[in-house]
Amino acid sequence: MTTKDMFPDVSEKKRKLQKIAVFTSGGDAPGMNAAIRAVTRAAIANKLKVVGIRRGYQGMIEGDFIPLKASDVSGILQLGGTMLKTARSSAFRTPEGRELAYQQLKNNEIDAVVVIGGDGSFTGALVMSQEFNIPFVGIPATIDNDMYGTDYTIGYETALNSVVEAVDKIRDTARSHGRIFFVEVMGHEAGLLALNSGIACGAEVILIPESKEQHEELAKFLSKGYKNKETSGIIIVAEGDETGGAMKIAEKVRTEHPDLDVRVSILGHIQRGGSPAAKDRVNATRIGVAAVEALLDDQKSIMIGLCNEKIVQVPFNKAVKLNHSIDLNLLEIQRLMNY
Ligand code: F6P
Repeated sequence: MTTKDMFPDVSEKKRKLQKIAVFTSGGDAPGMNAAIRAVTRAAIANKLKVVGIRRGYQGMIEGDFIPLKASDVSGILQLGGTMLKTARSSAFRTPEGRELAYQQLKNNEIDAVVVIGGDGSFTGALVMSQEFNIPFVGIPATIDNDMYGTDYTIGYETALNSVVEAVDKIRDTARSHGRIFFVEVMGHEAGLLALNSGIACGAEVILIPESKEQHEELAKFLSKGYKNKETSGIIIVAEGDETGGAMKIAEKVRTEHPDLDVRVSILGHIQRGGSPAAKDRVNATRIGVAAVEALLDDQKSIMIGLCNEKIVQVPFNKAVKLNHSIDLNLLEIQRLMNY
């Protein structure tokens, strides 16, 4: 399908859509800028005016709006973070805050909004579109890759590569000293980043919120595997693991196995930054264009996702209420690699 097919000449139609807003919300993710650029340029190509809202829902409430021309999104494709900045807004959680936000959109003659973010950001968009008559379309962007209805969220690929690069370096020290490293990876409710980075780094054990059995694997590794092989080890821990994160688990292991040389490394926000990987740039561009297409098509309250590399539209109420299940067979594969 060509871009011309995707965007038939709608100038003939008496169309409702003349000006759209785009903003980023929640935790930043590499590739958000690529999405802002794609939305802006696809909209301008279709004779729409574009406004950027700075600082997420908080900026919407405060009327922190900037007009965006095609040239304003030049040179940002390769940059991490978000040129529109982002925020978590407590004011937007109140009906008064949302009323103010709606008034700002109306005052600025915004007909529809593209929200780039994760779960919380789409929940806000869903609530607002139920309370007021304004269409929202969502672009999934979070390093957690935990949204239902899409195989992929913008930023995940870059974060995965950042984790792998960091753990490869930690492995050098672990090997040299014969140490056990507990490496904590982001993902407060989701273990996909931990799971795939663990496989990519050859981790001995991976602890994720979705599987309790992994703690038995850790016990086995500590009591048998490690001692027999007299080697080092990398244990990847998702921050949301219910036993309380890498620090707590390592503390317990130190007490139970005083003979082991245990260290902890919490990767933290290093995982959210950096220049987006090619895949994040390409997908952000595809999804950004599809978001504008959906608005031109009178769609609302949907997230644009990617399933089997194809663009899909998922209603917000499914995307935010259902869980993104992860393939636990991957844990079995990781166990096989330890033989
Ligand atoms: O972006 C999602 C996420 O990275 C989670 O995995 C993590 O728990 C959270 O953001 C931390 O966000 P913040 O530092 O903005 O509170």
